[in-house]
Amino acid sequence: MPRKIVVTSALPYANGPIHLGHLVEYLQTDIWVRFQKMLGNECLYFCADDTHGTPVMLSARAAGINPEELITQIHKEHKADFDEFGIEFDNYYSTHSPENKYFSELIFNRLNEAGSIVTRDVEQTYCENCKMSLPDRFVRGTCPKCKAEDQYGDSCEVCSSTYQPAELINPYCSTCRTRPVLKTSEHYFFKLDDYEQQLRDLIAGGHTQKSVANKLDEWFNAGLKDWDISRDGPYFGFKIPGEENKYFYVWLDAPIGYMASAKNYCDRNNLDFDTLWNSGEYELYHFIGKDIMYFHALFWPAMLIGSGMKTAERLFIHGFLTVNGEKMSKSRGTFIKASTYAKHLNPEYLRYYYASKLSDGIDDIDLRMDDFLNKTNSDLVGKFANLASRSGPMLTKKLNSELGRLDEQGKELLDKLIAAKDRIMEDYESLRFSAVVRSITALADEANRYVEQNQPWTTVKTDLEKTRTTLTAVINAVRILAIYLKPILPKYAEKVQRFLNVDTLCFADLDTVLENRKINNFERLFERVKEEQVNAMVEESKETQAPQPAATEPVEPFKPECTIEDFAKIDLRIAKVLKAESVEGADRLLRLVLGVGGQEKTVFAAIATAYKPEDLTGKTVVFLANLKPRQMRFGLSEGMILASGTGGKDIFMLTADTGAKPGQEIH
Ligand code: MSP
Ligand code: ZN
Repeated sequence: MPRKIVVTSALPYANGPIHLGHLVEYLQTDIWVRFQKMLGNECLYFCADDTHGTPVMLSARAAGINPEELITQIHKEHKADFDEFGIEFDNYYSTHSPENKYFSELIFNRLNEAGSIVTRDVEQTYCENCKMSLPDRFVRGTCPKCKAEDQYGDSCEVCSSTYQPAELINPYCSTCRTRPVLKTSEHYFFKLDDYEQQLRDLIAGGHTQKSVANKLDEWFNAGLKDWDISRDGPYFGFKIPGEENKYFYVWLDAPIGYMASAKNYCDRNNLDFDTLWNSGEYELYHFIGKDIMYFHALFWPAMLIGSGMKTAERLFIHGFLTVNGEKMSKSRGTFIKASTYAKHLNPEYLRYYYASKLSDGIDDIDLRMDDFLNKTNSDLVGKFANLASRSGPMLTKKLNSELGRLDEQGKELLDKLIAAKDRIMEDYESLRFSAVVRSITALADEANRYVEQNQPWTTVKTDLEKTRTTLTAVINAVRILAIYLKPILPKYAEKVQRFLNVDTLCFADLDTVLENRKINNFERLFERVKEEQVNAMVEESKETQAPQPAATEPVEPFKPECTIEDFAKIDLRIAKVLKAESVEGADRLLRLVLGVGGQEKTVFAAIATAYKPEDLTGKTVVFLANLKPRQMRFGLSEGMILASGTGGKDIFMLTADTGAKPGQEIH
């Protein structure tokens, strides 16, 4: 009986591009899913963009678009990146969807009915200028412990201490640099603690890898704290039922997005969602990175248990990607976007490289550029492609493209290759992909040795049929290896399948051999990677760090909002300074007579500390023409000229010595 399996990967945030770090996870999952499908199991792979929360809201604001537009754009980009890398979801959906809203409310209501939701007041950091409460990461200031400037609201990158945003010295809003205030607000909490025993049982039952059990124990022993699941508006997310200005925290609806994606798929494919998600008929597996373990090993199963739903069979946790032994870094060019990689290198090379490094553990995996180059050239080009290019073209050119029959030695080789099947399948199943790759490369070595021993390039001159027999064995070896490699290298397997002229490449095909049949023309399988390609990719990924704005003193809150209509009331004109003179009894003022297209206007400008009257005559300035005239002690001021600066010598008049005509309107 084929198994029925549902698989998810963590939902990438919709406020940035897919990078090589993400790909560790999506490639690990995709390889496993492809393996299951190849076995003939029904395996459905669901994912979605994680669209809600403050960062998405603020990125959209900064880009001058609304969040919906931003997440639509990012959704397209993410999908294109996944396609490029052969990551094949059965559904790639969005958490900003009606299904997700429905399930979020359903689960919240059920948890509420179960008594697992409570409300209480919290003090939160609020920016009166941005008119929003600030997540810890959006408050910055001086570390209360080591006094390092410009640190996040929750922890210091210099001394690693953690604290509350309110403890920062000189805190400021990272968006507008205003000093935030503390504000009390009622929040909703999920009582995680209610589920401690069930969670302990779940973990003890092998829900996740043994290697993370210690970390989980630490959390249990520290006591499970209530989880704040609400955020005040403005917030991009789903409103909490019955509330006007409170929303579900993004991490509440994010994992529910797995269900939403599945539900959306079921509706489009006439499948019963409850059977798929909630019955024993389907196995459910989540793949995640170790940074989001708390959410997936504690909050998520507790939410499911509390709302009477099934939890996953297993949670597969992987480690983090480092590049050349270090955290990915924008300045070193090792923060590499999926799309940048694909511009320079074949995505299958990365699939292979990651597979060769991945295990079932949570150790970090390191992408060493030199190692990547060597492994690609020595294995993909030197071992796999080589085997095919040494046999295919010769068969086509000299032997009429026809395979013959295997002899004893050929059978012996193939038996050895086939004998590895169970081991390779077990290793795939258990996520020991590096072991899979080790087995397959050893088999490729074996097959290449067979070619060396039989020297087809020599025998082809004297004994065509002997050569055909040799090449028949080699072609069969190519096929077996392509079957083993197919979950990792689907495009390669497709090419091999075309060239061998076979209908399928799956594990069941290992029971048959190819004899007495025609093959198709050989296609080139892999190109050697050159160091320059890797260097070019790194170069393109280098971001010269934009200079950080100097830590300035917190500023006063901005004035109330002004609309574009308000702004359009202002009439700005080009004006020429006809006369400029000091004003007796007012050291800071100059009296200017301006020519504004045939009219003369007098203004008093507080610029005497920065400009001498004699330097001004003849200058073209920008004049606010429709300011209500104001009677001053020294005369009537009929408008204003535009200048900026902090005062004293630092006043800069806005000049327009560009040939513009006085009186001309400025748009
Ligand atoms: N949106 C959340 C997940 C919500 S799931 C209900 C999130 N998004 S993420 O974009 O930051 O990460 C998505 C997945 O990629 C996570 O499992 C994360 O661990 C993984 N990775 C992100 N950067 C990574 C590396 N540098 N290395 C390996 N995996 C990494 O978390
Ligand atoms: Zn602000």
